[in-house]
Amino acid sequence: MTDPVSSRSDDTIVRVRGLTTVLNGKTIFDSLDLDIPRGKITAIMGPSGTGKTTLLKHITGQMRGDRGEVSVDGQNVPDLSRENLFRLRERIGYLFQNSALLTDFDVFENVAFPLRQHTKLPEVLIRNIVLTKLQAVGLRGAARLMPTELSGGMARRVALARAIVFDPALILYDEPFVGLDPIALNQVLKLIRTLNKTLGITSILVAHELAAVQHVADHVFLIANGKVVAQGDAATLANDGSPWTRQFFGGEADGPVPFQYPAGDYGTALGFPGGSL
Ligand SMILES: Nc1ncnc2c1ncn2[C@@H]1O[C@H](COP(=O)(O)OP(=O)(O)O)[C@@H](O)[C@H]1O
Ligand SMILES: [Mg+2]
Repeated sequence: MTDPVSSRSDDTIVRVRGLTTVLNGKTIFDSLDLDIPRGKITAIMGPSGTGKTTLLKHITGQMRGDRGEVSVDGQNVPDLSRENLFRLRERIGYLFQNSALLTDFDVFENVAFPLRQHTKLPEVLIRNIVLTKLQAVGLRGAARLMPTELSGGMARRVALARAIVFDPALILYDEPFVGLDPIALNQVLKLIRTLNKTLGITSILVAHELAAVQHVADHVFLIANGKVVAQGDAATLANDGSPWTRQFFGGEADGPVPFQYPAGDYGTALGFPGGSL
């Protein structure tokens, strides 16, 4: 393991301390600690069902833990008033696990949707903002296409244009590469980097694609069993040889994450006398 990220609050945009979350009797986070540095791209990796999406929802205040702190810009999210929570959410762009476009609206209206919902901006301003965001993702010419007319990569880029419509300080990408062909994947990858570098947007990237993560992430947290089990830059982590990273990055079926889902005695289940084989 490498040194923890600096905990100086000005360098840290998201600070998680002692986060403990139990859902349906299952401990998702077990006193989780991590710091997301401002202005950087931080990847969150870990086995399916480990709580990556849940962590993003704690950051936006859509879910709250049972104990502990999840602060964004020094404000503990569970303590925010409804009004301040909405203000915070306007500063966070969220790219959902599927692109989640509204199928009855064209590309332009999908990107305009949050502006129409949350502001009373005049039409001419809405038009300028939407076209600027579509230009940023290379799809200004696709403004009048319907979602069914888009490829998977285009849909992801429209969702990205919508996620940046309020000029967020922080973007959360939940598995943005799933289902994309290599060309589309590279386009999304390039956009993530461009938005981070040119607009200075802090990015949190949940992804499984190690090569892509190595390409863009400044820092990686590997989460399993409710805790950070490894962290560092992607290249170092992939080669550090610990059982966690070997299983996760090496794709070994068994390791610290057991192949067998917890179960009762196998012999008993099969009806053998004495309960074992
Ligand atoms: N709202 C919820 N209520 C109960 N359990 C949930 C809820 N959301 C997620 N879970 C459970 O929490 C665990 C982590 O889910 P999730 O954050 O989606 O994992 P990941 O994104 O890492 O694949 C899973 O076991 C899931 O079934
Ligand atoms: Mg998920």
